[in-house]
Amino acid sequence: MEKKWWKESVVYQIYPRSFKDSNGDGIGDLQGIISKLDYLKELGVGVIWLSPVYESPNDDNGYDISDYKAIMDEFGTMEDWEELLEGLHKRGMKLMMDLVVNHSSDEHAWFIESRKSKDNPYRDYYIWRPGKDGNEPNNWTSFFSGSAWQYHEETDEYFLHLFSKKQPDLNWENPVLRNEIYDMMKWWLDKGVDGFRINVINLISKEDGLPSTPGGKKYDWGGDYFMNGPRVHEYLQEMNREVLSKYDMMTVGECPGASPEDAARYANEEGTELNMIFTFEHMDLDSGPGGKWDVKDWTLADLKDVMTKWQKDLEGRGWNSLYLNNHDQPRMVSRFGNDQEYRVESAKMLATFLHMMQGTPYIYQGEELGMTNVKFDSLEEYNDIEIHNMYREKVTEGGEDHAKIMEAIYRKGRDNARTPMQWDDSEHAGFTIGTPWLKVNPNYKEINAENALKDPSSIFYYYKELNRLRKEHDIIVYGTYDLILEDNPQIYAYTRSLGEEKLVIMCNFTKENATCTLPEDIQYESASLLIGNYVEGTAEERLEGLQLRPYEARVYRLN
Ligand code: NOJ
Repeated sequence: MEKKWWKESVVYQIYPRSFKDSNGDGIGDLQGIISKLDYLKELGVGVIWLSPVYESPNDDNGYDISDYKAIMDEFGTMEDWEELLEGLHKRGMKLMMDLVVNHSSDEHAWFIESRKSKDNPYRDYYIWRPGKDGNEPNNWTSFFSGSAWQYHEETDEYFLHLFSKKQPDLNWENPVLRNEIYDMMKWWLDKGVDGFRINVINLISKEDGLPSTPGGKKYDWGGDYFMNGPRVHEYLQEMNREVLSKYDMMTVGECPGASPEDAARYANEEGTELNMIFTFEHMDLDSGPGGKWDVKDWTLADLKDVMTKWQKDLEGRGWNSLYLNNHDQPRMVSRFGNDQEYRVESAKMLATFLHMMQGTPYIYQGEELGMTNVKFDSLEEYNDIEIHNMYREKVTEGGEDHAKIMEAIYRKGRDNARTPMQWDDSEHAGFTIGTPWLKVNPNYKEINAENALKDPSSIFYYYKELNRLRKEHDIIVYGTYDLILEDNPQIYAYTRSLGEEKLVIMCNFTKENATCTLPEDIQYESASLLIGNYVEGTAEERLEGLQLRPYEARVYRLN
């Protein structure tokens, strides 16, 4: 397997709006990030992924871009951005920008032109269709509830928007549009960025003829007609030829609905498309048949199945990304761990579980502090467009129970991840001296960076140690993965192997003690503990009949 810097790196995601406010307007900004570069350096991460900082009317917090080459006023100026890049590079870190090119904002100059008339030169930059029998052109629904089409009276046509109606989909069938995008990418790369996280990139090719789903439903989820569509690989190979292959850079494509088979093409070892993708399969383990908001409990058996499938199916064929939360997902410690009694232990256990797998690990801001989900009393305190649209559809219009939907928001809402970063125990957690755009989590007095940095046994320093070990041991990056103790209902255990070397990783996912009986072929007599989340008494213990304490994680090195 080829060695690459982006396989060996750990990525840290910043959601700029919530990271650090420098000017008291309640909104995080670039100077705020710059003031925390030494914090990031201390953590030992190699790459920063910056969620969008481009000019945007913020219908979807920057994922609706109105100018791809300008910085959002609230975040600062291009000079601030250049200072950030320089500050990162000076400290040996890299910068990965978010690239949002499945759609733009409806306030982008292209769309403003496009909607002027049917023969405008920009008309074909977007996906316009006439209605059918007084209805939308097809029955697809948007990711953010309701129809995926918006009627435009002046030109008597509809435009497609897979997300909000202020996020019209770009028409990738149009080669002129594709070239504009490639030029824009080169413009940023020439300014010195080191990579792109490419937003919902597997949605860019829609099925020919944009058919309705079968079955005659007025509105229906049309995912099969736009996820991993017919020309997506052709477009990515073109992007790779025109842009990506010309730079020493890193790419990760966000790909909802992609299987490992799809991923083996998107993230192929030959490097003809992207470096890696974000899968969603493990993020769907607590979704019932009704989708994201139909919340059910996830099971350890399912987690083993899904993670193992991705580890084994991509082995030697493609590269995995490893994540348990981001700005669209609930906090991992609340979702997969225990955010009460065992918050610290389970946060470290989950970190171990993830970072020891094969792939590039991603840390989402605040994860290194064990930040948790939040429960706001009223819907008005939430900001996210997805939450508000869903609530309107289900409760206001659909008559569903308010309390039930609030429960779903507590468990799955994206604002769980977007509450401001908790820096210290001063008002608003040291995030801003103004009024934060989204309320801080009330637990900031206890959970904050200042406390973490003072405590050598904090989650922060545990991550730092994981990041250090990754640099020291090739096996953590390149070793092959194998699941062990498959049927154990409490423990997720696996091995990594590289040449003569072997690691055994054991993670107790429960708050009860668990007995770990390793398979006989694992020679543990000469094992040494590489890392573990309980400080006392681990190194000398024998592995035979090992008792793992609540949410305990251990990594042993054999040979
Ligand atoms: C995925 C992004 O991560 C999410 O935040 C956004 O709302 C959608 N794509 C639409 O751009």
